[in-house]
Amino acid sequence: MKFFIDTANLAQIKEANELGILDGVTTNPTLMAKEGIKGQEAVYNHYRTICEMVNGDISAEVISTDFAGIVEEGKKLAAIHPHIVVKVPMIRDGVKAIKWFTDNGIRTNCTLVFSAGQAILCAKAGAAYVSPFIGRIDDSGWDGVQVVEQIKHIYTIQGFKTLVLAASIRSPNHIIRCAEVGADVCTCPLESILGLLKHPLTDIGLAKFLEDAKKSI
Ligand code: E4P
Repeated sequence: MKFFIDTANLAQIKEANELGILDGVTTNPTLMAKEGIKGQEAVYNHYRTICEMVNGDISAEVISTDFAGIVEEGKKLAAIHPHIVVKVPMIRDGVKAIKWFTDNGIRTNCTLVFSAGQAILCAKAGAAYVSPFIGRIDDSGWDGVQVVEQIKHIYTIQGFKTLVLAASIRSPNHIIRCAEVGADVCTCPLESILGLLKHPLTDIGLAKFLEDAKKSI
């Protein structure tokens, strides 16, 4: 399973990258706004900086919602850097645009996916990635990981090539459960990635080893 970081914060991207386990980055307009990045030029420059920092796929989201606008914007985003994957929302014109991008050699990540039915449409249109939002599915009283499992199962038996990118991760346990059900990628906040490191018995064990090591110095 690949690890992407779900942020537009350069310090966090650097930290995850330096850990040596980072395969890519996902962003969205909310995450860009959180970093105070305003205006198309600033946004595009920020994407370029991220692409130069990380050797992997970087999702950059369109903000248009009509076919012509999505295509226009997606072409500009894709031209920023070869690492860019154009993130397109799961709406009617989004599906149409994903098919257009597929036919024109531009890779896409279909975002805001909450059901297996939506995921089938993404795959039919040729998206490189489908992004089920598991945390938000959990919030609405369903089981997000179960949706990831169902999508993965359908893609496997149907031979769809679209990669399942589990998004809206809220905890280290989400990451573990996504790995269990065969997600191809997990995009996570830094906190959840670092949470995987932690176990109290590791800390207790290490403290004891270091204490005992002093006896043999
Ligand atoms: C995915 O690509 C989205 O950017 C993200 O995972 C959404 O997560 P949230 O539900 O925590 O906003």
